[in-house]
Amino acid sequence: MLLLLLALIAVHFPAGDTKDAFQGPISFHVIQISSFANSTWVKYQGSGWLGDLQIHDWDSNSGTATFLKPWSKGNFSDEEVSHVVELFRIYIFAFIREMKADVNALRIEYPFEIQGIGGCQLHSGGAIVSFLRGALGGLDFVSFKNSSCVPAPEGGSRAQKVCTLLAPYKDIFHTVEKLLYETCPRYLLGVLEAGKADLQRQVKPEAWLSSGPSPGPGRLQLVCHVSGFHPKPVWVTWMRGEQEQKDTQRGDVLPNADETWYLRVTLDVAAGEAAGLSCRVQHSSLGGQDIVLHWGHSISTGWIILAIIVSCLIFFLCFALWIFRHLSYQSIL
Ligand SMILES: *[C@@H]1O[C@H](CO)[C@@H](O)[C@H](O)[C@H]1NC(C)=O
Repeated sequence: MLLLLLALIAVHFPAGDTKDAFQGPISFHVIQISSFANSTWVKYQGSGWLGDLQIHDWDSNSGTATFLKPWSKGNFSDEEVSHVVELFRIYIFAFIREMKADVNALRIEYPFEIQGIGGCQLHSGGAIVSFLRGALGGLDFVSFKNSSCVPAPEGGSRAQKVCTLLAPYKDIFHTVEKLLYETCPRYLLGVLEAGKADLQRQVKPEAWLSSGPSPGPGRLQLVCHVSGFHPKPVWVTWMRGEQEQKDTQRGDVLPNADETWYLRVTLDVAAGEAAGLSCRVQHSSLGGQDIVLHWGHSISTGWIILAIIVSCLIFFLCFALWIFRHLSYQSIL
C-alpha cells in the first residue's frame, strides 16, 4: 500500500541559464533516494534544496534533519520545524516498511531504487505551483495531481496498481495536500526572505582562455572558462566583432566548492580563423560591464609589450649613464 506517498517526484527545473532568465522561478524541494539492496538492507538518503542549493540533510542514523544554513528553518518556529521533522520520520519508517511488504505483490525485484521529489515552485508572477513525483529504477512512476495519485505511462500496470492501493488512504492524501499546498508555499516565501542576503549575493566571475584538444588536423578548439560567479545565470559566447558564433558549445554550469559556479564554453575553428575571435561574458554582478577576452592577444601580449618597454628603458638608462660618465671624464681632463 502506501507505496506510499510515494516517493515523489522528479522535477524538471527550467534551466534558467539564458540571457533573459536572470530572474527565473525558484523552488523548494525535498529529494529522497532509497536503495533496496535486498530484504534486509536499505539505504535512505533525504535532502532539502532551495533551487540548486542544498539547505537540509537527513541523518538516517539519528532519524533527524540537519539544517545546513543558519536560515534553513525559514520563518518557522522550532515547534513547527519539529512537527514537520516528526512527520518525515514517521513517513520514512512507514515507506521502507511498506515497500518491503509489497515487493512481492508488486513484482519488484531486488535490488531496486526509488527516487522521489516533492515541493513547490515560485514563478515570477507570484504563483506557487506544487509538485510530487516518484520514480522506480530511474523511470517516472507515479505523481500527485489534483489531490490524487496519477500513474506515469512508463510505470505500466505496476504504477496503476500502486495508485489503486493508495486510493482508500484519504488521511495520507490529506496530509500530503496540506504539506504541498499550505506548508511548502509558506515555508518557501519565508526561507527566501530569511536567506535573501546569501541567495542574492553577487560575486563577479573570473574568465580566462585556453586551447582544448585539437578537434582535427588544422583545427583548434578555443576554450573560454568562466568561474567563481554567483548567482548561477550567466551568458557566455564566442564572438567575431559583434557577431555571435553559432557553433559555440556551452557546457553544463558546474558547482565550485565555495557555492559559486563554473562554466566552460568552446568553439572549434580552422587554425587560421582564430584571430579576431573573442569570448564575451555577461553576468548580473558585472553591472553591464561585460568581460571580453580576445583570442591571441590576451595577457601574454601585454607581458611581451611590457618586457620590450622595460628593455628599452634599461638600454636608454645605460646609454645615458655612459654619456654622462664620458662627459664627466672629459671635463676633468
Ligand atoms: C544485503 O545487501 C548488503 C549490501 O549489498 C550486503 O552486505 C548483505 O550481505 C546482503 N544481505 C543478504 C541477506 O543478502
